[in-house]
Amino acid sequence: MSDIPRLEDLEAKLGDLAGTRILVRTDFNVPLGDDGTITDDFRIRAALPTIEWLTQRNATVVTASHLGRPKGAPDPAYSMDAVRARLAELAPGVELLENLRFDPGETANDPVFVAKLVDGIDGYVNDAFGASHRAHASIVGPPQHVPSAMGRLLEREVDVLLGLRNKPKRPFVAVLGGAKVSDKLGVIEALLDVVDEIVIGGAMCFTFFLAQGKTVGASLHEADQVEVCRGLLAKAQEMGKIIHLPDDINGTDSQGNFAQFGSRLGDGATGFDIGPGSAAAFTDVIMDARMVFWNGPMGMFEDERFESGTRTVAQAMADTKAFTVVGGGDSAAALAQFGLDGEVSHVSTGGGASLELLENGDLPGLAALRSD
Ligand code: 3PG
Ligand code: MG
Repeated sequence: MSDIPRLEDLEAKLGDLAGTRILVRTDFNVPLGDDGTITDDFRIRAALPTIEWLTQRNATVVTASHLGRPKGAPDPAYSMDAVRARLAELAPGVELLENLRFDPGETANDPVFVAKLVDGIDGYVNDAFGASHRAHASIVGPPQHVPSAMGRLLEREVDVLLGLRNKPKRPFVAVLGGAKVSDKLGVIEALLDVVDEIVIGGAMCFTFFLAQGKTVGASLHEADQVEVCRGLLAKAQEMGKIIHLPDDINGTDSQGNFAQFGSRLGDGATGFDIGPGSAAAFTDVIMDARMVFWNGPMGMFEDERFESGTRTVAQAMADTKAFTVVGGGDSAAALAQFGLDGEVSHVSTGGGASLELLENGDLPGLAALRSD
């Protein structure tokens, strides 16, 4: 990433930062509770090193972020008020624009919206790693107009994730889970080129079960992806890579009571977590690895009946001597819930972005800074 300007390069270009207005694109897309309060401010705190570096040099910092997925118009449910209040506590005097996605020009990468963003701005910093896989106006637009650089968070994220990709220590294991099933099937194929073993938990495993001719009862699955999963299993085998699937499942029976199953679930049975045997097997894989990347919980860990698979994997991530990276809001939240967030080598602020960087070795937001 030596080809991407850093904060020091921006300072050199602008001469003196004192009195300049710097637009900092952050990813303040934080989880909000039902009452609209922030349940985890990790992404806000993660941007502070860049913000402080700039304010120490007497630059006026204007931050901008999206929050959620409003439909291109103001929507009070996605107002930045709670974020603004938290930011004011952590970094007094720093401005925060309204939700970028209140303007349809953000996701459309409309040049008119880009012009609005850079109006009166002397320089631009991208520190929104978690959104840098989106070719949106605030990510790719400003570098075409004003001197630009990557912030400290973006720099560290890219260092760590490209380190995994380009200098893997083997065995390199990816642990994937979560509920966004079809999202990740494409990633798995790309990861087969990069990692040695893939551990699969979360709802995603049920589509693989179907590909193996097993039954999943009423568990979440994607019938139209079964063929893709079958192809992935075959491809992995051809490449000599291992895909680990659970062989026991915790869930509920047709009465809704907690139940444990093997890897064939009958009618009315619903899987919500990997079972204890699989959790132990996955622990062995993680303990024997030299690098582990984890994205996506193993089950519905918000419900304490179904947290044990995710908790066991989180503990293995903490215990292994491997270099460990956790990416994605849900896995990071799980780690924090179990008090293990300080026990891994790196917690990424990006889910989709970290997967895409591992997959492609580049992101639209990085390319935009390079062509500055
Ligand atoms: C995220 O939460 O993954 C990032 O903020 C990107 O959000 P998006 O998936 O809505 O683009
Ligand atoms: Mg460790």
